Amino acid sequence: MATVTEEEECMGNVKAQLAKLFEASLRVTIPNEPDVEPLVAACGGKFGDYQCNNAMGLWSKIKGKGTQFRGPPAVGEAIKNNLPSSEMIESCSVAGPGFVNVVLSKNWMAKSIQKMLIEGIDTWAPMPPVKTAVVDFSSPNVAKEMHVGHLRSTIIGDTLARMLEFSKVEVLRRNHVGDWGTQFGMLIEFLFEKFPNFEDITEAAIGDLQAFYKASKQRFDADPAFKQRAQQAVVRLQGGEDKYRRAWAKICEISRTEFHKVYQRLAVHLEEKGESFYNPYIPGVIDALTKQGLVEESQGARVIFIEGINIPLIVVKSDGGFNYASTDMTALWYRLNEEKAEWIIYVTDVGQQQHFDMVFKAAKRAGWLPQGDSSYPKASHVSFGLVLGEDGKRFRTRNTEVVRLVDLLDEAKSRSKAVLIERGKGEEWTEEEIESTAEAVGYGAVKYADLKNNRLTNYTFNFDQMLNDKGNTAVYLLYAHARICSIIRKSGTDIEELKNKGTVVLGHKDERDLGLHLLQFAEVVEEAFTNLLPNVLCDYLYNLSEIFSKFYSNPECKVIGSDVETSRLLLCEATAVVMRKCFNLLGITPIYKI
Ligand code: ARG
Repeated sequence: MATVTEEEECMGNVKAQLAKLFEASLRVTIPNEPDVEPLVAACGGKFGDYQCNNAMGLWSKIKGKGTQFRGPPAVGEAIKNNLPSSEMIESCSVAGPGFVNVVLSKNWMAKSIQKMLIEGIDTWAPMPPVKTAVVDFSSPNVAKEMHVGHLRSTIIGDTLARMLEFSKVEVLRRNHVGDWGTQFGMLIEFLFEKFPNFEDITEAAIGDLQAFYKASKQRFDADPAFKQRAQQAVVRLQGGEDKYRRAWAKICEISRTEFHKVYQRLAVHLEEKGESFYNPYIPGVIDALTKQGLVEESQGARVIFIEGINIPLIVVKSDGGFNYASTDMTALWYRLNEEKAEWIIYVTDVGQQQHFDMVFKAAKRAGWLPQGDSSYPKASHVSFGLVLGEDGKRFRTRNTEVVRLVDLLDEAKSRSKAVLIERGKGEEWTEEEIESTAEAVGYGAVKYADLKNNRLTNYTFNFDQMLNDKGNTAVYLLYAHARICSIIRKSGTDIEELKNKGTVVLGHKDERDLGLHLLQFAEVVEEAFTNLLPNVLCDYLYNLSEIFSKFYSNPECKVIGSDVETSRLLLCEATAVVMRKCFNLLGITPIYKI
């Protein structure tokens, strides 16, 4: 029988801990195949909680090579017999063609849950193999609309950042704002024309920066003299002329105020390093790439060719100027070399997939990133589908062309508030409680409706659906959490005291099912950020609340007044703690009463 040290055994989530045990067994069972990775998965079947599926694959590797085994079931049997003894495991059995099923020990499960209650949910945090990551998300464009695509990027990016932060990764939350480009010439000239004292104006004077953009574009298209001035303005801005820099800064500042209103509502924190930040570094980076022989002339432009893609990545335009790709190559260089990020994650709509594919492949050609995607440093593009209106077309509000995100969020809040008032909370709660609950529910609903879908599918924006208190919605989940809190409050016990004095037992099947699901939290978070799929965490949260309901509504599992009241209250508390952590990772504020 193989062994693992106790310390090794305690590292990581349940799945990872079992994988360690199976790994030790595999080394002993088939010593000639030391590179075989243990394949362990949760199975939830009647034979066990987890399953090791190595026997079949191993058999095909060793058969005909003089092995003592007579088929995969015998390999499975040996894997089972060589498993190091562990207090985690109650029993093990081999089924079918060689699946090794594991039933976890109830005592161990109960002890682990109790330990988490005492030491905190942070002890269940995953341990990814990176120290520093960049999440490049939200990233709207100055003077252009911040649209629902940016909203998706903001919501998805924030969740991924939160999961990594929970896992003790230092996350650089980057707002790669589109704050540079030739359009600024026209905007600056228009600003000079409309507001000779541009420095004194506030956001209110310009009103809507998008309308300002449109008006300046019209002027640009209609008046050749203006167009010429605008083109000169670009040159003067790029040359660093003071007045032009100040006008540019003013326009960026006004945009920033608008973006900030969205971030404030969503409680999303970002650090702006816009495209302009990388300008000074671009020539050096392009030079280095040129010296490596990667940059070639093509139709007057300078480009990088990428195997398998028929268009090249243009890094210097034919007029000598830089573009989106020059900036992204430079930003990637900066993140790798200056910020020492080991994982760089970009969150944009699926329309930019080819752009990032090309940037990453160019970086691999340059040797900045390793070939293949299994080692670090790594760059990942997290793409997502469209937000649709109920008509199945791209989402727009009533008669306006674009959806003002601030209005959208405010509507979510005011609808939630109306429901609270309708339910008579106006008499029961303080104004502040109403406001904060309406925000938690309204903004939470918008976030959850986005995150619960696989991000690659388009999703339909529908207030009635997302604010429904039944089904897989934030409202349902937030209420479920508040109900658990009220069970604990009504019990009149001091839950902090119970954590240390009482013991968790998982006597009933429904209690055990709930316990098992709670224990799987850590591996689900790990799966969610490893595959960059927040919906995995949403599914987990929804299932948790369903499994809890099954337990709580079972008359055999009565909580208050039963002779295992303490244990059941602790299970309620553990459920609430895990739910809250899920909300926290999804950027949703929990509520404690309804
Ligand atoms: N500003 C871009 C847009 O609105 C998104 C930028 C994404 N980040 C990046 N490094 N290219 O489409």
